[in-house]
Amino acid sequence: MKLWGGRFSQNLNDLAAEFNNSLPFDYRLAEADVHGSIAWAQALARAKVITADEAQQIVRGLRQILGDVQSGQFNYATTDEDIHTAVERRLNEISGPVAGKLHTGRSRNDQVATDFRLWLLKTIDQIDEQLHGLQTAFAHRAEVDWGSLLPGYTHFQRAQPILLSHWWLSHFWPLVRDRERLAQLRGRTSVMPLGAGALAGTPFAIDREALARDLGFTAVSPNSLDAVSDRDFAAEFLFAAALIAVHLSRVSEALILYSTAEFGFVELADAFSTGSSLMPQKKNPDTLELTRGKTGTLIGHLTGLLATLKGLPSAYDKDLQEDKPPVFDAAENLMRMIPVMTGVIDSLSIHADRMQAGLDPNMLATDLADYLVERGVPFREAHRLVGKAVRHAIDRGLRLDRLPLSELQSISDVFAEDIVQVFDFQSSVDRRAAIGGTGHQAVQDQLLQAKEYLKSHSLTEEKNHE
Ligand code: ARG
Repeated sequence: MKLWGGRFSQNLNDLAAEFNNSLPFDYRLAEADVHGSIAWAQALARAKVITADEAQQIVRGLRQILGDVQSGQFNYATTDEDIHTAVERRLNEISGPVAGKLHTGRSRNDQVATDFRLWLLKTIDQIDEQLHGLQTAFAHRAEVDWGSLLPGYTHFQRAQPILLSHWWLSHFWPLVRDRERLAQLRGRTSVMPLGAGALAGTPFAIDREALARDLGFTAVSPNSLDAVSDRDFAAEFLFAAALIAVHLSRVSEALILYSTAEFGFVELADAFSTGSSLMPQKKNPDTLELTRGKTGTLIGHLTGLLATLKGLPSAYDKDLQEDKPPVFDAAENLMRMIPVMTGVIDSLSIHADRMQAGLDPNMLATDLADYLVERGVPFREAHRLVGKAVRHAIDRGLRLDRLPLSELQSISDVFAEDIVQVFDFQSSVDRRAAIGGTGHQAVQDQLLQAKEYLKSHSLTEEKNHE
């Protein structure tokens, strides 16, 4: 069925019809569409555009449709142009001619923007809950892997020893920012376009504020032209989703490397690994590689939608129908990626001995410089002197901590017997005691802060604050 056709003398070409049809993807908006229509019918009745009785008949039909959608019984006809058409067609079948009054004062332009926002609000909450689960997994790892040391890298060169718990938590905080972004996006998504009409507004006395309250929106769009063309929420969502994916991808990249035989720091559970069809010995981190790979897809969705939006001249243009596939795909991929990552993190085993073996005394060179600093040497000079010591150790084929004191003293006479205390990885870590550092106490405090956050930012908690 089509919702138009009066002014046409020819049927739509089959190829053009198929080209135009958005039902194959916007069927996902079915529930939101029905909710929007129920509220609209009630608003029309309040405005005395239709009678209370008519509204009731319409709402009854829509409730039946909602039940069918939710139970998977709804019949989407391939001839329906889009989800709005499908719902109205079905309402006609159920309720008869009164169904023809539902679309009074409304356009699919304000309708689709409303549906899409309602759908996104729900989706944001689901993703937020999944992120809470992943954060819980990182915090839990920080707790159970307490005490293990890990080589910290910069430029992927051995840099300084750190606590493994500190590393786990370094992946917790980006998700805090992601959830903040989602919460802010939630606010900007919660603006209702319905009542904007096709572009100029609705001519009927619709109480848009009451309508917004009925639908759970917190605000009403202030400009009808902007209302029907604004897809900032979709673009922002794609950015938020892409950045979440980037965060997961970075964890993936590290764990892929750390699970190689060469590193052997971690081992993925069999349940989250796959085998090779050819090489019987292989155990591949496919889940992590797919996470990394899908991140590319999500970034593409963001740039794709921005390109779609950049040339749109007026209120609604059909280009805007292209907003949905990337958003649906991003959401669906992300909602598979986050729980898989949570499972990977929860189930992997760590090899603390291999991490420990990756520590090398050269990673304490900064501590050696700090030793000189504590004895009055300016840091820049200390850096130069320790650099010389490192060079000397390399030339002598010795580890930095095995260099005889006399040879260190020929570089600087500030070096003394107590130099041995520097060459201890644990105390190196503990020297980083300032807030946010890798010292045991600092990480303990950090973990506490993370756990406080988790308690105060569960989804139900946020809903209570609203
Ligand atoms: N399927 C359309 C979309 O997703 C619905 C809006 C159609 N509006 C119109 N003026 N043809 O954008």
